[in-house]
Amino acid sequence: MVQKQKGTYDMYGEMVEKYNYIKRIFTDLMNEYNIKNIDTPIFESSELYHRGVGETTDIVTKETYDFKDRGDRSVTLRPEGTAGVVRSIIENKLYTNLPLKLWYEGPMFRYERPQSGRYRQFRQAGVEIFGDKTPLMDANLISIMVKFYERIGLRDVIVKINSIGNKESRDSYREALTNHFKPYLSELCEDCNTRFSKNPLRILDCKVDSDKECMKSAPKIIDYLDDVSKKHFDEVLRYLDLMEIKYKIDNNLVRGLDYYTDTVFEVEAKVGDSLSILGGGGRYNNLVESMDGPSVPAVGFAFGIERIINALDSEDVRVISDNALDCYVIPVTEKEIDNAVLLVNSLRDNAFSVDMDYTNKKMPAKFKEADRYNAKFIVIIGEDEIKNNKLTIKDNLTKEEVKIERDNLIDYLDVNI
Ligand code: HAM
Repeated sequence: MVQKQKGTYDMYGEMVEKYNYIKRIFTDLMNEYNIKNIDTPIFESSELYHRGVGETTDIVTKETYDFKDRGDRSVTLRPEGTAGVVRSIIENKLYTNLPLKLWYEGPMFRYERPQSGRYRQFRQAGVEIFGDKTPLMDANLISIMVKFYERIGLRDVIVKINSIGNKESRDSYREALTNHFKPYLSELCEDCNTRFSKNPLRILDCKVDSDKECMKSAPKIIDYLDDVSKKHFDEVLRYLDLMEIKYKIDNNLVRGLDYYTDTVFEVEAKVGDSLSILGGGGRYNNLVESMDGPSVPAVGFAFGIERIINALDSEDVRVISDNALDCYVIPVTEKEIDNAVLLVNSLRDNAFSVDMDYTNKKMPAKFKEADRYNAKFIVIIGEDEIKNNKLTIKDNLTKEEVKIERDNLIDYLDVNI
């Protein structure tokens, strides 16, 4: 039998309910904040990610799904959403109407070692705001993220925040890091040796060397921020305090993508016995320009949907299904089927979600079927009902039964659902 690829999964049953629940809460929030949807292709030219995400990042060096298409073009399955959105706003000149507030959701691909909460095909939802360089917008975005986690019912989330400064601050920090790591090169892994010459900041992101003493004693970016970056960071923190959003400053947080400037943040939650990073983001004031667009400041975040589902399960959050059936119609015998079909059609025309029993099963089995679909009401049509032009309606939660005139069914459901 052909089996699914490593690090992928099939979504069905309860997982579909959870996914829909998360997406519904997220899109409602996006409407409230006047953030508009954008959808970009799942594959793009490889150059986009090499330039956008960064040549020296783990994502580009080890994790992209790159291939040649039949026209010999190098294409890459998108590992994240930001680079594609940036390409789109440049190509479609969307930057002529700033500020631009966009959200997206969809599958991403990274060739990572599969483990709990880490897939090769996973789903991200994210927000990107263009044309607003104020620290208030950084704080606002963090507050949207926190509000989203609260709304879906997660309680134990921690916001971690840091600043990696503007280009000037990072240039002097890079020099300090180079001086610091030079004597330890023989202790560091092969990748870190490459990072040392290409982009020493990436050493701090290494998963192999993270526990080594020279990593812990490395200089901290926060001490190298220039006045502009320091002021920006202080203001972000002041706004977070004003909005009463709890956070932890984490000076080791650098994030795994090259495009960030100034504020970076991540949201963590306890899932089972370990900590899971549910989402992250930050400011990227130079990316649009570096992708041949105009100079447009930007800030954004994305979160992983599977990790949120795991966190919901771990905190035992009850997911409210949005696809419970309004009505399940049961004809008592075959004789009432025609009548039931007409009733079901008229209910659907009135925007109720309805299904009916088409079989010869016994009545208890038919009621069981209504439970399986989470039906709110069961409508029973038997010989008596047809003779008297009435219907029997059973509230499937309270189990109360009433008989009503057939013509009153839609009004009855309107009032009771
Ligand atoms: P990222 O931190 O690489 O950032 O990914 C964001 C989130 O996607 C992670 O926090 C995690 O929840 C989820 N994620 C990443 N890789 C996997 C995986 N292999 N399996 C399951 N979930 C995963 C970005 O992608 C940036 N584009 C975020 C951003 C938007 N920054 C600015 N704007």
